[in-house]
Amino acid sequence: MKTIFSGIQPSGTLTLGNYLGAMKQFVELQEDYDCYFCIVDQHAITVPQDRLKLRENIRSLAALYLASGIDQNKATLFIQSEVPAHTQLGWIMQTQSYIGELERMTQFKDKSAGKEGVSSALLTYPPLMAADILLYNTNLVPVGNDQKQHLELTRDLAERFNRKFNDVFTVPEVKISEVGARIMSLQEPTKKMSKSDENQKATVYMLDDPKKIIKKIKSAVTDSDGIVRYDPIEKPGVSNLLTILSSATNTPIKTLEADYVGVGYGQFKQDVADAVVNVLEPIQQRYQEIIDSEELDVILDKGRDAASIVANKTLAKAKKAMGLGRVV
Ligand code: TYM
Repeated sequence: MKTIFSGIQPSGTLTLGNYLGAMKQFVELQEDYDCYFCIVDQHAITVPQDRLKLRENIRSLAALYLASGIDQNKATLFIQSEVPAHTQLGWIMQTQSYIGELERMTQFKDKSAGKEGVSSALLTYPPLMAADILLYNTNLVPVGNDQKQHLELTRDLAERFNRKFNDVFTVPEVKISEVGARIMSLQEPTKKMSKSDENQKATVYMLDDPKKIIKKIKSAVTDSDGIVRYDPIEKPGVSNLLTILSSATNTPIKTLEADYVGVGYGQFKQDVADAVVNVLEPIQQRYQEIIDSEELDVILDKGRDAASIVANKTLAKAKKAMGLGRVV
């Protein structure tokens, strides 16, 4: 069976973008692959985090994975910092990364632009991400569009290592979903929907109550020509809503365009809002049952132990290939 690895940062409440771009795929893929899903808390600390809030976000993300349908019997769910092999291999991958290629990462450029006191870990974030993936002999990495560049670098680093030392790593493929890979801001539909957008109206959070979701979607920016048509350049707002509706209802965009001929934006937005509520409300209900349960800790303990076994084996191979430590 092929292996899948993916991770999400516990850096705030997850958005509809995280769900449609990543988590929704994870739930489908766990049926056919050996899956590892990770709460990448060590990636989150590359920018400042409040200690108590971070703890809360880690637990909340674990509960959201399960509430969304990740099944402990089909997938391994764990917290990155509880499996030390990640940072250990992360260091090794840093030794194989060039500063220039890390500086070219658009996420680094975006997150560091105009900021003072940027941590060096923000620059060395991609080698840690490569380590996450490579530790599990991963074949496929399902992510949203914004992670494509990091995945290309992961492949380069794996190939570079294999060439220089020994064939230790499986070179992973990226898997980007056809729809939903780039959900845009509801207020500025030319930029990505993000956990950290200051404008609260721009982002639907997975735990927003239904009234709030409806209000946000109804006030989404569209255009004045009144035609429901997919055209991300000319009609970014409407196209984003079509993407959301398509992904939330598993209906092709072409079918939706045909369904909405002659229908106004008011009704269209109402339908998008209802579809999103239909997806998120059951997740929210399950989340409430899971968040304070002891079972959540049992699942995370089990995930940590299972992940450690595989990760430590790969780490040992990489160390040996490089000549680290003593002969064992
Ligand atoms: P993160 O935490 O920013 O996002 C988690 C996942 O959600 C996707 N995503 C989106 N998809 C569609 N539309 C959006 N607006 C949107 N916003 C976010 C992301 O593409 C991602 O798949 N570096 C990663 C975390 C990571 C990782 C890994 C991922 C660390 N190690 C190893 C895969 C494998 C990140 O910051 O994702």
